[in-house]
Amino acid sequence: MKAIIVTHGGVGSPVSHGDGCQKAAEEALDTLRKTSSVLQAAVRGAAVLEDDPRFNAGTGSNLRIDGKTIEMDAAVMDSDGNFGAVAGIQMVKNPVLVAELVSKSPHLMLCGPGATEFARRYKIPWYNPITPKARERYKKVKKNLSKRRLPYWAKRWLNLPYHLEGCSDTIGIVVSDGKGNFAGAGSTGGTSYMLRGRIGDTPIIGSGIYVGKKGVVVSTGIGEEIIRRMLSKEVYEKIASGISPQKASDWGLTLFKPQKPANITPVGIIAVNKTDYGISNTHQMAVGIIKQS
Ligand code: GLY
Repeated sequence: MKAIIVTHGGVGSPVSHGDGCQKAAEEALDTLRKTSSVLQAAVRGAAVLEDDPRFNAGTGSNLRIDGKTIEMDAAVMDSDGNFGAVAGIQMVKNPVLVAELVSKSPHLMLCGPGATEFARRYKIPWYNPITPKARERYKKVKKNLSKRRLPYWAKRWLNLPYHLEGCSDTIGIVVSDGKGNFAGAGSTGGTSYMLRGRIGDTPIIGSGIYVGKKGVVVSTGIGEEIIRRMLSKEVYEKIASGISPQKASDWGLTLFKPQKPANITPVGIIAVNKTDYGISNTHQMAVGIIKQS
């Protein structure tokens, strides 16, 4: 087996958190060995990252603008065309496990209370993912937005540069088994400034994730900008045309032209094909890598 597995802790995550990403990659490899399933490997690896409170997904997710709510998005996909996603799911430990369950249902995506209810039907227990660190980050967000009424702070929010406010964005994993099978997964607590009900790129096929017969691409960063560019699908098409995952990922970043140097949109991309991987990011990003020779 010549597996290649890459994980990330979100664009903006300190490189020193790479140990968590490497642990997730190793869990994925172990699962691949045991099950021969790239999808299972991606799901298990992503769940390890969701359980690490240093990352903005599962435990440790960002709070919404109300300071009380966590709504999480996640998706899984493989090169056999299986896809499942949840958006705005609440009070579960591992949104990626629910996304996997959705991939086995007649639907592709479930959102909000329906997604949470679906999880309960599968006996996924109630779990509060709020951490003290997430509350601290929220204090910063609140300070930046000031105490103005909604129309004012909403205006100001739209004018804010793309701050990560001390948090990272999304976790992700890409898996190749070296035999032409690929899978990926992503999970997030969203960005720093979010209204309730806002959905980012992570659960949107072609935006936060895309998997085809030639490889897999998973993206991290400001969801609205990633969705506008259908980033993962565009980068995948480059790989499918024979360009290396590294060159394709580097090209993906060129789609985000900064208005000013100080306002570079945070974006990260991880990708693999059958023989190689690529990692590109605008800001620091913790990663884990396994490439068997
Ligand atoms: N990339 C995660 C989000 O924008 O929600």
